[in-house]
Amino acid sequence: MSILEQIKTELPWLDDKVAFDLTRGKPSPDQLSMTEKTFSSLAMPFEMDGIDLRNYGTPEGIPSARELGSKILSTPLERTLALDNSSLTIMQQILSCSYHLDFSRSSLSAKSKFLCPVPGYDRHFKLLENFGIQMIPMPFQSDGPDLVSLKELLNEHKDIHGIVCVPRHSNPTGHVYSDQNVREMFSLLKKRSNNLMILWDNAYACHDLKSTESQLPIFGMAEEYDLQDNLFVIGSTSKITLAGSGIAFFSSSQINNNKFIDYRNSLTPGPNKINQGLHVSYFKKVSLEEQMSELRQLLLPKFDLVDGHLSRLKEQGLCNFTSPSGGYFISFDSIQARASDIIKNCGDLGLTLLPIGSCFPYNNDPNNSNIRIAPTCPDLATLDKCLNIFTKVVKKLN
Ligand SMILES: Cc1ncc(COP(=O)(O)O)c(C=O)c1O
Repeated sequence: MSILEQIKTELPWLDDKVAFDLTRGKPSPDQLSMTEKTFSSLAMPFEMDGIDLRNYGTPEGIPSARELGSKILSTPLERTLALDNSSLTIMQQILSCSYHLDFSRSSLSAKSKFLCPVPGYDRHFKLLENFGIQMIPMPFQSDGPDLVSLKELLNEHKDIHGIVCVPRHSNPTGHVYSDQNVREMFSLLKKRSNNLMILWDNAYACHDLKSTESQLPIFGMAEEYDLQDNLFVIGSTSKITLAGSGIAFFSSSQINNNKFIDYRNSLTPGPNKINQGLHVSYFKKVSLEEQMSELRQLLLPKFDLVDGHLSRLKEQGLCNFTSPSGGYFISFDSIQARASDIIKNCGDLGLTLLPIGSCFPYNNDPNNSNIRIAPTCPDLATLDKCLNIFTKVVKKLN
């Protein structure tokens, strides 16, 4: 009997109609319904902070929404912009602005290289690849990017013009950068500050599921190393309220913010201020802390479920995995280097996982080991079924 046939007999509910998906870190319908309840009680705001939300203008975002961004990202209010619905789009615009117009200390070109701690976020890599920027993978240490490798890579390569960082509950590994790691990283990067973009994607800034190390506000640390013009902080409410319909935030030095607004003036006559107003009204009814606590109650059982299934595999010497203290992902590593077979067999049984290598630049997983698990969207019973398929495949292949 083939592996697939064996698993089908062991899991009687598994039929040809099964179509499960653990690819993307989407909020679950439960999370969205919880948020919808509050949104549906709100009146559409047409005026806020003395600004007519119905009209064009206010390219930096309305003050109350900027205040919300400054709270989420721990960035100075006067340097935080509230923009449109996606931080990924903002990152595309940041790269484009640097590429075509330059920031004060960032000028990307076809020669530029970016350091990419791996495993990382697939869409960062797609974005950099689309700009023709050469990506250099680098490993992590337990509390952030690996500093020995960073030093070596900086010595080895001339045209390193950027690094991409997800400093809290990194996607997918869950790394939380310690202040010590950030300081040492900044002291190494300082030598390149004439042309350097530190893309600080704090997508999971307030998404703690368990007690998590606190981090100092990033601008204070950047200023200690005179790197404030190199720091580009982004984040959004996508994984806090409504994915794709939230607010994205940008924060950099004043000179970079001015440049970015000037650049964006050619793209848009202004951000969606009505949505900004709606979010401000939302967080007057439910505090950010209350919202995150409600989300935690929905998300933590899912992470615990994955933990239980993967721990049993780990005890059998079949994998390593991360138990993140927050965020939206778990990073699985096949010790027997069988990730591509696991992905293929799960797919044949109706469980879709990201393609092999997705969490690496150019889809190149050198060890054929890594699989990102995104457990947030399915309900608990469905997630349990997904994990039954996954763990049986891993066991049968070894
Ligand atoms: C690290 C990271 N950055 C950015 C995003 C996208 O966020 P947004 O919806 O604001 O574009 C995600 C989504 O999964 C992410 O994991």
